[in-house]
Amino acid sequence: MNSFTYCTPTEVLFGRGSERHAAAEIRKYGGTKALVVYGGESARKSGLLDRIGRELRAENIPFQSLGGVRPNPHLDLAEKGVGLAVQSGADFILAVGGGSVIDTAKAIALGAANPGTNLWDFWEQKAAAGKALPVGVVLTIAASGSEMSNSAVLTNQATGVKRGLSVEIYRPRFAILNPELTFTLPAYQVACGVVDIMMHTLDRYFTLTEGNELTDELAEALLRVVIRNGRAALEHPGQYGPMSELMWAGSLSHNGLTGLGAVTDFATHQLGHELSAMFDVAHGASLSAVWGSWADYCFGQKPERFARYAEKVWGVSGADVRETAKKGIEKTVAYFRSLHMPTCFTDLKIGVRPEKTLRELADRCVFRGARKVGHFRELDREDCYRIYSMANH
Ligand code: NZQ
Ligand code: ZN
Repeated sequence: MNSFTYCTPTEVLFGRGSERHAAAEIRKYGGTKALVVYGGESARKSGLLDRIGRELRAENIPFQSLGGVRPNPHLDLAEKGVGLAVQSGADFILAVGGGSVIDTAKAIALGAANPGTNLWDFWEQKAAAGKALPVGVVLTIAASGSEMSNSAVLTNQATGVKRGLSVEIYRPRFAILNPELTFTLPAYQVACGVVDIMMHTLDRYFTLTEGNELTDELAEALLRVVIRNGRAALEHPGQYGPMSELMWAGSLSHNGLTGLGAVTDFATHQLGHELSAMFDVAHGASLSAVWGSWADYCFGQKPERFARYAEKVWGVSGADVRETAKKGIEKTVAYFRSLHMPTCFTDLKIGVRPEKTLRELADRCVFRGARKVGHFRELDREDCYRIYSMANH
């Protein structure tokens, strides 16, 4: 087990009606004026925004609202939010929504605490992210784990670059997790969330680090629970049990727990981000579309690890280690298909792409040659190109 620092300071309020506590939580963490950030229409349509507004008024917390955050959120709306936060004197940012809303809220929190700094400079590592306003979350979709994570992912629409920024100041002060708030989700978004939750653990689990029993077994248990409840959530929509398992798993899958003591991989996420940046596809879909190709390309690096995954998570084995490893990959890909998630570019509805597009995706993924991605197997430009090619059917 490698050395690590583990700090997940986010207070979690889990259960039915927990959004009632949002205003009191803001107060508890020192907020006196809030900016409420939300997405397209789901939070308004469900009445959630109105309920939160009432709670804020009852707690005497003045607030402004900023809606319109779209999936794969754009830098320009975050910049608009910074202006609004600064002008209104907001000292707390409340995100009501999913990963896109939370990440926009985090970006606003960073920009508002550092007025005058070009926001994108933080993502390009040209400015140091030393301070940010506090952020709280009312979560409406189990997926990104941003409610407990140290990251925010934005798309710079001017350059077409989608990029994450990970800094500890980004961890929300509190996360309100009421599974009932997810009941209005379309099946496709539930499935995208299941894939993303699995992938946050898989991108940590496929590691070359040895001797990490507790972390490994936590990861395997989380995956089994998500696979089972993902199926149940889609077969029986609107049930509290499966959605509550997914919601809690989503937070634990990306707060660091399932990768402690290991060197993590995250190549699939990097490959997926380029697909979302170029084709504006949903994050979870971008991951399922390439994971099988990534796994087929990389499992030979350490087939024993994939064989362990096959046995512990899927309960399958073959004649030898390689065959067992392959069965685990097949099971995973078949599971994604059973959720109606894409496992190739045609399923992803971006069609079979010409070679020059695959080369461009690969080039962007390695930042034009400035980095390699992944650790289980370190991938250079040519490796990324080959993986995209394998998914290109
Ligand atoms: O905009 P509205 O109308 O709210 O609709 C949203 C959106 O269309 C809808 N939705 C959310 N809650 C709903 C609902 N519809 C009905 N009822 C509800 N209760 O779902 C759609 C997707 O929302 P989004 O916030 O984009 O989903 P998700 O939580 O999957 O977030 C994806 C974003 O998070 C980033 C992704 O890259 C992507 O940009 N990620 C952030 C991470 C982080 N900060 O730690 C880690 C992840 O790996 C990921 O990269
Ligand atoms: Zn993700």
